Amino acid sequence: MPLREGDIAEGSQVEFVAQVNILFYLILFNSLIRTHFLPVPLLRLVYLALGARLGHNTYSAGAILDPPLTYIGNNCIIGHDAVLFSHAIENRRLSLSAIHIGDNVTIGATAVVMSGVTICDDAIVSAGAVVTKGSRIGKGEVWGGVPAKLLKRGSEV
Ligand SMILES: CC(C)(COP(=O)(O)OP(=O)(O)OC[C@H]1O[C@@H](n2cnc3c(N)ncnc32)[C@H](O)[C@@H]1OP(=O)(O)O)[C@@H](O)C(=O)NCCC(=O)NCCS
Repeated sequence: MPLREGDIAEGSQVEFVAQVNILFYLILFNSLIRTHFLPVPLLRLVYLALGARLGHNTYSAGAILDPPLTYIGNNCIIGHDAVLFSHAIENRRLSLSAIHIGDNVTIGATAVVMSGVTICDDAIVSAGAVVTKGSRIGKGEVWGGVPAKLLKRGSEV
């Protein structure tokens, strides 16, 4: 049941599909992933099996809450206890928007990356940052803080 991006109308079939996906993830995998029981290399295989697109040499020590709507390139690290989610639940509103991450990107430990975020190659998200919905982080940029803002450009790192 493929997920459709965008705002999801209450009571629609699209909402039903989204809820089934979320339940499938929460019931079967969330507890396992959140216990830190699985070593990071195995976690990569779990996320691939759940539909995430992870490039070569990309690993997550954090949580990817919507694997089918998460696209990550090569040589990336999702830091310890970072959280990536491609859905937005805000009161009664539900929307889905994929996260796109390029190559050689570091997401710092405990950072939060919200739905619809694009992070270009060689960028860094600081530890503890909150990258809000729909933000675009340019190539080589370093972003941090809550909400996350540009801290440095690539040549300054
Ligand atoms: C963001 C980061 C890359 C900056 O490191 P750096 O290039 O050495 O830069 P500096 O420490 O000189 O900091 C540069 C600026 O960013 C700010 N900054 C650094 N870390 C920050 C953070 N986590 N949140 C907010 N601001 C931060 C500094 O205060 C400084 O601001 P200033 O120029 O106004 O003084 C680094 O602090 C970081 O968070 N790395 C993530 C590492 C990580 O978690 N990896 C995954 C491990 S599992």
